[in-house]
Amino acid sequence: MHVYIEDIGTHEGDEVTIKGWLHNRRSSGKIHFLILRDGTGFIQAVMSKAAVGDEAFTAAGHLSQETAVIVTGTARADTRAPSGYEIDVKTLEIVGASHDYPITPKEHGVDFLLDRRHLWIRSERQQAILRVRHEIINAVRDFFNARGFILADTPIFTPAACEGTTTLFPAQYFEDTTAYLTQSGQLYNEANAMALGKVYCFGPTFRAEKSKTRRHLTEFWMVEPEVAYADLDDVMALAEAMVVSVVGRVLDRRQRELKVLERNTSALENVQSPFPRITYDDAVQRLQAQGLPIQWGGDFGGPDETAIAQMFDRPVMVHRYPSAIKAFYMKPDPDRPELALGVDVLAPEGYGEIIGGGERLADLALLLQRIKDHDLPQDAFEWYLDLRRYGSVPHGGFGMGIERAVAWICGLEHVRETIPYPRMLYRLYP
Ligand code: 4AD
Ligand code: MG
Repeated sequence: MHVYIEDIGTHEGDEVTIKGWLHNRRSSGKIHFLILRDGTGFIQAVMSKAAVGDEAFTAAGHLSQETAVIVTGTARADTRAPSGYEIDVKTLEIVGASHDYPITPKEHGVDFLLDRRHLWIRSERQQAILRVRHEIINAVRDFFNARGFILADTPIFTPAACEGTTTLFPAQYFEDTTAYLTQSGQLYNEANAMALGKVYCFGPTFRAEKSKTRRHLTEFWMVEPEVAYADLDDVMALAEAMVVSVVGRVLDRRQRELKVLERNTSALENVQSPFPRITYDDAVQRLQAQGLPIQWGGDFGGPDETAIAQMFDRPVMVHRYPSAIKAFYMKPDPDRPELALGVDVLAPEGYGEIIGGGERLADLALLLQRIKDHDLPQDAFEWYLDLRRYGSVPHGGFGMGIERAVAWICGLEHVRETIPYPRMLYRLYP
């Protein structure tokens, strides 16, 4: 009977068939130890000459890494085995040969591995990361679905900028039009929220900034909730609840993967409500007190975010940034109009900003002024301005970059390992 390795525990003593690949092989005299993988896990299959005969035994001695094989044998509990089980092999069938597999158990440089990303994802560590990514994405969807949010997709081809004009990827759109790959679904999300109340979009977004840091991709996935009648405090409460829920779910269901990744889980267990909330003013003062060169009015760089995050044992929310360093659509603080009612959530352990959001500018006249100040083409925004013409209400939301969240929760050095095929300044292959 075909059994997936992750289900082997319910088949102790049975004859089972594993369909997968040979991950590694050791041989000692009359026994081959074959490490098999099938995408759901790894298991050791023990093949003895006595059980399979000379011919099959000799053939198996030539099998090389990543040969596709179907192995049938008896599942046996073994407390020393990492999966808790082993298989005593009766037959082995070769489905697809593999010769000179380029990624061997020895250390390889990261460029070598990225050039072979389509194969690298077969490794135990990369599989663990992609499984955690899957869990995070599902946890996010479940969180919003359970709260009555409607998933409403936003377009990827767009006529204009959302986050800023300097970071757009143009695309030739038939003969005489230029479209741009979206930087965020937010503006359409705002329209969707006016229609449906509570919505989220979840799709790929693109940034053409020439950043070469461990936190930047040119193509990344973002989940963006948007809520009608929400103010900044509502947005912060929603972001906090989502992060707590997502981290809790990964701790609940992905212990095996976190162990493969050697993740310190006690740092994740700290991720509980309430998260500290500090103002931008306060953050600048704290940074200056530590001797960092930041001046009021400046945006935080990676080292600033890391320093702020290190002051706390859980994510920290920094709110009310100077409007001048934030996007055109942010609502000014009525008490101090030079500040924007925006919030960034900074992850602990030096992972930096994982969420950006806030309350939107709902006033038509002020929004028109902002579009002019930012040199944005008013034509392209007429539909967005309509939201302020026909029943404008306070509203807000946020965006969380999935890859930043995965890097933090998995404890990775760089976002390039958080997505199957990373797109970066110098990488478009494979
Ligand atoms: O802070 P950002 O630019 O905010 C927005 O796009 C808003 N329109 C979202 C909203 O309010 N609906 O991006 C949001 C998040 C960041 O906090 C970060 O996690 C991620 O998206 N992000 C990136 N992730 C990887 N590579 C990049 N180049 C990223 N840029 C932003
Ligand atoms: Mg941001």
